[in-house]
Amino acid sequence: MSTTNTTTSRGAHQHWSSRWAFILAATGSAVGLGNIWKFPYITGENGGGAFVLVYLLCIAAVGLPILMAEVLLGRKGGRSPIASMRELVKQHNASSGWISIGAIGTIAAFLILSFYSVIGGWAISYVGSSISGEFVGKDSDAIGGLFGAMLGNPTSLLFWHSVFMITVIFIVARGVKAGLEKAVTYLMPALFVLLVIMMIYAMTTSGFAQGASFLFTPDFSKLSTEGVLTALGHAFFTLSLGMGVMMAYGSYLDDNISIAKTSITVGLMDTVVALVAGLAIFPIVFANGMEPSSGPGLIFVSLPLAFGSMSLGSLIGTLFFTLLVFAALTSAISLLEPSVEWLEERSGFTRITATIFAGAAVWALGILSILSLNLWSDVHPLGMFAAFEGKTIFDLLDYLTANIMLPLAGLLAALYVGWIMKKEDVAAELAMDSTRFNLFWNTVRYITPVAVIIVFIYNLL
Ligand code: TRP
Repeated sequence: MSTTNTTTSRGAHQHWSSRWAFILAATGSAVGLGNIWKFPYITGENGGGAFVLVYLLCIAAVGLPILMAEVLLGRKGGRSPIASMRELVKQHNASSGWISIGAIGTIAAFLILSFYSVIGGWAISYVGSSISGEFVGKDSDAIGGLFGAMLGNPTSLLFWHSVFMITVIFIVARGVKAGLEKAVTYLMPALFVLLVIMMIYAMTTSGFAQGASFLFTPDFSKLSTEGVLTALGHAFFTLSLGMGVMMAYGSYLDDNISIAKTSITVGLMDTVVALVAGLAIFPIVFANGMEPSSGPGLIFVSLPLAFGSMSLGSLIGTLFFTLLVFAALTSAISLLEPSVEWLEERSGFTRITATIFAGAAVWALGILSILSLNLWSDVHPLGMFAAFEGKTIFDLLDYLTANIMLPLAGLLAALYVGWIMKKEDVAAELAMDSTRFNLFWNTVRYITPVAVIIVFIYNLL
């Protein structure tokens, strides 16, 4: 990451060279498969507009306050997430139970990366398919067939999952993140431009009106309570909350930079990317008579269909999937980091050894997700509980992390800032005018925790 060597009185380490360096790194972690792969498919599964509306509310009322809370805790602590919480708990005379915010996050990151890498592998494999022109002239059945064939082949899934994980391990072990993060400064905007091109293409299809209305016309009869939980969980997932990633990044943030402004910028960019992805995908889905609720394969069947029929499609498709892989990698390195740090602290391994061990463990766990897409697609480990009926191992990992662990860790962060820290301290740290500060303060104390708890309770019942 690009940092200067200025140390401040409280921070023990380097700082971001500018507000934009922080924004870019945080956006690099936030924008990933969550925006381009997950958001469209869960929107499709949950009926569209009403889900999107609840998701946007969750971003505003829960995601942004918790993003600010995490950055604030990180900057106050000035160290790694767990060490920061230890330090703050001592300062505030609070129970050491709060340190568990870091522990839940580390485990969640580990579990998320195991299936994130499998999807990253799909993206790499689709780079190859685009280059070799496999999509050209194919109709939706043929493209769906390609995707189905990929899922049905555990060996090739394992191969691409391995390629993705080895790349992540290499980047994290060698500490070449600096280079990657610089590269991403150009690649992320390029990805965004391509998404906009796809959206413009989508506008020319016969499905645009239907796609836009699917996304933006709420029909609450289509939204279940589980859908609300999914929207909430996704607000955490897409903003990289609940795992200390934003705390870690916050610890490098200079004191004179506005936490509110930077957090809002990150949240806005992340949301815009997701919405543009939705606007690019759903028109294609409707124009070709495909099912919006077809699940995790949604972008892997809708976009290739467009690439196969547009001019320069193979080139644009190759670029698109390549950039998607980069977006996934920048998120993935932030998912491996907590486990590596923990292992380094615990075992005294060198960084390289710790990365290889943590990465190998993630890789091995990923095999379960791969098998649940084919050989074990009928295995539903917690199927005896109504809430988990019909869920494969892959579904369960996604559900437990995004819908339970991240909101729980985020809830604790909000409670810590709102109820353990002193109002004056929080106000001094945020340095906002008093109306805006009061809005934040009341949100983080009441609205955010109550919203998370209500959604939890509804889903337990
Ligand atoms: N936000 C990323 C995405 O949308 C995923 C991710 C990266 C993440 N780091 C995280 C999710 C930390 C939760 C916590 O693809």
